Order: sequence, then C-alpha cells, then structure tokens
Amino acid sequence: MEEKIRQLNQEAREAIQAATGLEELKQIRVRFLGKKGLLTEILRGMGNLPPEERPVIGQLANQTRQELEDRLGERERELLEAEKERRWQQEAIDVTLPGVELPYGHKHPLRQVWEEIEEIFISMGFEVEHGPEVETDFYNFTALNIPPDHPARDMQDSFFFTEEILLRTQTSPVQIRGMQARRPRLPIKLIAPGRVYRRDDDATHSPMFHQVEGLVVDKGITLGDLKGTLETFARRLYGPGTRIRLRPSYFPFTEPSAEVDVSCTICGGRGCRVCKGTGWLEILGAGMVHPRVLENGGYNPEEVTGFAFGLGIERVAMLKYGIDDLRHFFTNDLRFLSQF
Ligand code: PHE
Repeated sequence: MEEKIRQLNQEAREAIQAATGLEELKQIRVRFLGKKGLLTEILRGMGNLPPEERPVIGQLANQTRQELEDRLGERERELLEAEKERRWQQEAIDVTLPGVELPYGHKHPLRQVWEEIEEIFISMGFEVEHGPEVETDFYNFTALNIPPDHPARDMQDSFFFTEEILLRTQTSPVQIRGMQARRPRLPIKLIAPGRVYRRDDDATHSPMFHQVEGLVVDKGITLGDLKGTLETFARRLYGPGTRIRLRPSYFPFTEPSAEVDVSCTICGGRGCRVCKGTGWLEILGAGMVHPRVLENGGYNPEEVTGFAFGLGIERVAMLKYGIDDLRHFFTNDLRFLSQF
C-alpha cells in the first residue's frame, strides 16, 4: 500500500508538471485527491491492514495529499504568471515603432501668398479692408471715372446680373467705399484683397481670380511714396536684391498711371525664358489717384493726393513658385497642392 501511495505521488507530480492550463490542473486534483479520487480509493483498503500499520499509512497519505496540494498551488501560480506575461507581450506598446503618418492638410498656395502680402502691408501700417464681390456698376466703373459707354469698360469683360449689378471685375471699387467710410479722416492707408471676376479663361486668365488693391490718401502724397512703398513690398516678397521699374500706362482712375515691373525672380534680371529675355516681370498696375476719384470718395483733390495700386495674387504666386499655368490653382489636384 505504501508502494501504491508513493507511485501515485510520483504519477501525480509528473501530471502536475506537464499541465499546461488551469482547467487541466483542476482535473488532476479531482483525479488524484478528489472524494472519489485515486488516493481515496487506495485508502479504502486500509481496513485490511494490520492495526499497527494504519497510522503509518495514514500519515503517509496525509503527507502526500499536502505535498500534492502544494505542488498544485505552485504550478497554478506558474501558469497564471505565464499567462500574464503572454498578455503583456501581446498588448505591450512598442514605443520605438515608427508611428502611422497622418496626411496633413495645409493652406492653399494662393492663400499662403495672400497672407504673406497682407503681412507685408500690415507691417507698413496698412489696414485690411473687404468689399462686396457683387457690386454696382457705379462703384465698379462710374465712380472710378469709367462713365457709361466709355471704351475703358471693354478693358474688363464683365459678368452682369442686371444693368446695374455685376460681379466686380477689380478690387478698385473698394477705393471708393474705403474713402466714403472714412471721410474726412486722414491718412488713409488700406489694402483690399479678394476675388474678382472677368470673362476670361486660358493658361494665364481665369474667370475668377484674386487681387489686392492698395490705397493711400493724405496731404502731400507723391509718386515717390508710391515707388518707395512698392519697392519695399517687392523686396520683402521676392528678396532684398529685387528692383522695380515704373512704365507709363493708362487707367481711367489714376493719373499718371504706371505698370510696375520687378526684376525677374527667376534669373535676377539677366534674362531668361520666364521674363522672355527682358529681365523684367510685370506684377501690378498703379498710379496717382485721379482727382475725380478722390472727389467721388468724398475728399477734396485740392487738399489731398493719393496713390493706388492693384496686383494679381495668382500672378505673384506663379512668379514666386515658377508655376506656368494658372489653372493649377483651381483644379485642386493634390499632386500639385501638396508641393506647397
Ligand atoms: N484695377 C486695375 C486692374 O484691375 C489695377 C489698378 C488698381 C491700377 C489701382 C491702378 C490703380 O487692372
């Protein structure tokens, strides 16, 4: 009997050691130590033993039971620990792994240039003003010294809603609105960025594009102020080596009028494909505010003078980034947009 118990002890230990799960351990306990288990079965034969051997066997059985219980507990802790370790391995975050890159959105290149232009003028003391995109014929033309039937109206082919209402073809109406809102205060220093609309559509013209208007009115403003302001602007935008030049031109609302060129942003003035060998690029129209325009704004041209300018944001951006087709700005192709 003693031998049987020792054998059971041995078998049970091996089974416990080989167990790979808690459920299996439970079954081993039932099989060897349970009420109907193998140990109980062996002890049933105690009655046949001589009385003096019974306590010896009893003690051995108790000792075996205790030993196996200890083993079972130990193995259970081992298995729990292993299970914990495995879960930890599965769930652990490896902080050295590279992250998943999220695609970032960003500002449209036109908007970036728009804001850059704004910042330059704000730093020179200009206010930013906004006018309506749906304008009256009066503000878009008449008040700017372009009377009905004047051939200058054909310079900008327009979208009309009614005879009086149209999509503004230029930001210049904000000159009038800006003066009317401020009269008789001086000085006026404002820029007016925004959308404008013309019946045009090719590689360098879009039916909707963006301009920034500039207006300065005060006592004693001269063409020198215009030139200095635009030179400062061009150098801040295109770099300190940039030069500008004024070419005589015509706008009904300025007198004298000029087209303003900057030294080529690509070749620096030596001549290249972009500036067509001239070394110069036209970026804006400008001039001294026409006396009639000052009057329409509510100021006395005998007392004040002013200058105004208008530039195309698309054109400035195309020259800044070397973009050859204006339509890229409006097709929203991410292969184009994500380069900025
Ligand atoms: N409004 C003119 C244009 O769209 C530009 C301009 C503005 C010229 C102000 C002179 C003064 O072409």
